[in-house]
Amino acid sequence: MPSRTVGLAGTWVRRAALVCIVIVAPVTAQQTREQLAQRLPADFSGAQAERDTRQFLAAPGFAQAQVATNPRAADATPVGERVCVACHQLESEHFTHTLHALGLYAAAKSDPTIPVCETCHGAGSAHAKNPAGAGLIIGYTRSSATPVAEQTGICLGCHQGGAREHWAGSIHQRNDLSCSDCHNPMAKFSADGLLARRSINDTCAQCHNDVRQQFGRRSHMPLNEGQMSCVDCHNPHGSLTTPLLKTTTVNETCYQCHAEKRGPFLFEHAPVRESCLNCHTPHGSNQHALLVAPMPFLCQQCHSQLGHPNDLQTPASLASGAHPDERLIGRACLTCHAQVHGSNAPSGPKFHE
Ligand code: HEC
Ligand code: HEC
Ligand code: HEC
Ligand code: HEC
Ligand code: HEC
Ligand code: HEC
Ligand code: HEC
Ligand code: HEC
Ligand code: HEC
Ligand code: HEC
Repeated sequence: MPSRTVGLAGTWVRRAALVCIVIVAPVTAQQTREQLAQRLPADFSGAQAERDTRQFLAAPGFAQAQVATNPRAADATPVGERVCVACHQLESEHFTHTLHALGLYAAAKSDPTIPVCETCHGAGSAHAKNPAGAGLIIGYTRSSATPVAEQTGICLGCHQGGAREHWAGSIHQRNDLSCSDCHNPMAKFSADGLLARRSINDTCAQCHNDVRQQFGRRSHMPLNEGQMSCVDCHNPHGSLTTPLLKTTTVNETCYQCHAEKRGPFLFEHAPVRESCLNCHTPHGSNQHALLVAPMPFLCQQCHSQLGHPNDLQTPASLASGAHPDERLIGRACLTCHAQVHGSNAPSGPKFHE
C-alpha cells in the first residue's frame, strides 16, 4: 500500500528531524541569544533595563522587521530613521524609551536594512516630500487616512495569535477599535504593555468610565486599590465568551481567585452552580458583598415562605414593627442559612452550617 509506505517514510523523516532538533536547537538558540546580546546599546543598564533585556532576548521578532506596505504611497521608498528624526525630534525622543525602539535600534545596528520608524509607518519618501499629503505615511490616529484594518494588520503582522487569537470578530474589532486606542507605542506612558494611559484601568476608562465608576460603590473588589484590573476578568483583545471574559464561563472567572466557592459540596445551592451573577454584580454594588438586591429580598426573589410561617413580608415583621421577625433583621436569612454557597456538613442540606 503506497500510502502506508509514505506514512512510514514520513515517520522516519520526522524522527530524523526530531534528532536534528535535539542536537542542533539548543546551540542555535544560544548563538542567537549571544548575537542579540551583542546588539544591545553599551550604555544599557539598571533594573528596568534588565527586565527589558530579558523580554527583548525572548523576542527575536525585531530581526524580521520589514518596511510596512502602504497602498496609498506605493512608489515611496524607505528614507531611514534619520530623515524622520529631522522633522519629528520630539516624537523620536519619546519613542527612544520604548521596547520597540530598543529592539529595532539593536536589530538595525547589526543589519542596516532593518527599518526603525518605517516598520510601522511604511516607506517615507513621498511623505517627506509632501508631509501634508493625506495617507502618504501610515498613521494610527483617528484623523489619519489609513483605514483601521490596515493599522491593526501591521501590528498583527508581529503580534498575531496568543492573547489576540480571537481579535478578528471580537466586539472591539467590530466596533472599529484600533490597537492604538489602547496602546501608544510612541512613548512609555505605562510601566508595562505600552498602554495609551498610565494604567490598564485608566486605559479602559477612556470609553468605559461608567464601569470604572461602579468600582467606587459601597462594596467593590479592590480594583481602585490597585490589587486587580479589568484584564483579570476580561481579555480586551477578544475571547470566546461574552462579554470578553477570559475564561469559558462567569463562574470559572470568579474561581480564579475565589477557588473555595468551586466546591465540591455535599449540598449544592443550585443558583451558585449556575452563575455567581444570580446574586452578585462584578463591578460594584450599593448592597453589601456585591449583592444585586438587599437581604432578605435577594432570597425571596426565588423562595416563597415555604417551610416558614407565612408572615414574612409584612411591615409588622420589620425591626421597627410590632412583631419583629428575626428572618428580616440583622443578617436576615443568613442568620440561620449561613452557608449559602453550599455546605459540606452532614446536617447541612438547608445550608445552616
Ligand atoms: C520634511 C519634514 C518631515 C519629514 C522628513 C517626515 N515628516 Fe512626518 N510629518 C511632517 C509634518 C509637517 C506632519 C504633519 C502633517 C499634517 O498635520 O498634515 C507629519 C505627520 C506625520 C505623521 C502623522 C500622520 C497621520 O496621518 O496621523 C506620522 C505618523 C509621521 N509624520 C511619520 C513620519 C515618519 C515615520 C517619517 C520618516 C519616514 C516622517 N514622518 C518624515 C513632517 C515630516
Ligand atoms: C511599533 C510601531 C511604531 C514604530 C516603530 C514607530 N511608530 Fe510612530 N506611531 C505609532 C502609533 C501606533 C502611533 C499613534 C499613537 C497615538 O495614538 O497617538 C504613532 C504616531 C506617530 C506620529 C504622530 C504623532 C501624533 O501625535 O499624531 C509621528 C509623527 C510618529 N509616530 C513618528 C514616528 C517616528 C519618527 C518613529 C521612529 C523614530 C516612529 N514613529 C516609530 C507606531 C509606531
Ligand atoms: C516588527 C515586528 C513588530 C511590529 C510591526 C509591532 N511590534 Fe509590538 N512588539 C514586537 C516585539 C518583538 C515585542 C517584544 C516581545 C513581545 O512582547 O511580544 C513587542 C512588544 C509589544 C508590546 C508589549 C510591550 C511591553 O512593554 O510588554 C505591545 C503592547 C506592542 N508590542 C504593541 C504593538 C502595536 C500596537 C503595534 C502596531 C502599532 C506593534 N506592536 C507593532 C514586535 C513588533
Ligand atoms: C481595548 C483595549 C485594547 C486593544 C484595542 C488592544 N489591546 Fe493589546 N493590550 C491591552 C491591555 C490592557 C494589555 C495589557 C494586558 C496585560 O498586562 O495582561 C494589552 C497587552 C498587549 C500586548 C502585550 C502582552 C501580550 O499579550 O503579548 C501586546 C503585544 C498587545 N496588547 C498587542 C495588541 C495589538 C496588536 C492590538 C491590535 C490588534 C491590541 N493589542 C489591541 C489592551 C488592548
Ligand atoms: C476606544 C474606546 C474603547 C476602549 C478604550 C475600550 N473599549 Fe471596551 N468597548 C468599546 C465599544 C465601542 C464596545 C461595544 C459597546 C457596545 O456595543 O455596547 C466595547 C465593549 C466592551 C465590552 C462588552 C463586550 C460585550 O460583549 O458586551 C467589554 C467587556 C469591554 N469593552 C471591555 C474593555 C476593557 C477591559 C477595556 C480596557 C482594556 C476596554 N474595553 C477599552 C470601546 C472601548
Ligand atoms: C471580577 C471580574 C471583573 C472585573 C475586575 C471587571 N469586570 Fe467587567 N464584567 C465582568 C462580568 C462577569 C461581566 C458580565 C456582567 C453581566 O453579564 O451582568 C462584566 C461586564 C462588563 C461589560 C459589559 C456590561 C456592562 O456592565 O457594561 C463591560 C463594558 C465591562 N465589563 C468592562 C469592564 C471594565 C472597563 C473593567 C475595569 C474597570 C471591568 N469590566 C472589570 C467581570 C469583571
Ligand atoms: C483577580 C482576582 C479576583 C477575581 C477574578 C474575582 N475576585 Fe472577587 N474579590 C477579589 C478580592 C481580592 C476581594 C477582596 C477580598 C477581601 O477584601 O478580603 C474580592 C471580594 C469579593 C466579594 C466580597 C466583596 C465584599 O464587599 O465583601 C465578592 C462577593 C466577590 N469578590 C465576588 C466575585 C465574583 C462574583 C467574581 C466573578 C465575577 C469575582 N469575585 C472574581 C478578587 C477577585
Ligand atoms: C444565592 C445567592 C448567591 C450566589 C449565587 C452566590 N453568592 Fe456569594 N454571597 C451571597 C451572599 C448572600 C453573601 C453574603 C454572605 C455574608 O454576608 O455572610 C455572599 C458573599 C460572597 C463572598 C464574600 C464572603 C465570602 O463568603 O467569602 C464571596 C467572595 C462570594 N460571595 C463569591 C461568590 C462566588 C464566586 C459565587 C459563584 C460561584 C457566588 N458568590 C454566588 C450569595 C450568593
Ligand atoms: C436565583 C434563584 C435563587 C436565589 C436568589 C436563592 N435561591 Fe435558594 N435555592 C434555589 C433553588 C433553585 C434551590 C433548589 C431547590 C430544590 O432543590 O428544590 C434552592 C435551595 C435552597 C435551600 C435548600 C432548600 C431545600 O429544600 O433543601 C435553601 C435553604 C435556600 N435555597 C436558601 C436560600 C437563601 C438563604 C438565599 C438568599 C441568600 C437563596 N436561597 C437565594 C434558588 C435560589
Ligand atoms: C431562625 C432561623 C431561620 C431564618 C431566619 C430563616 N430560616 Fe429558612 N429555614 C430554617 C429552618 C430550621 C429550616 C428547615 C425547616 C425544615 O427542615 O422543616 C428552613 C428551611 C428553609 C427552606 C427550605 C424549605 C423547605 O420546604 O424545606 C428555604 C427555601 C428557606 N428556609 C429559606 C429561607 C429564606 C429565604 C429566609 C429569609 C427570608 C429564611 N429561610 C430565614 C430556619 C430559618
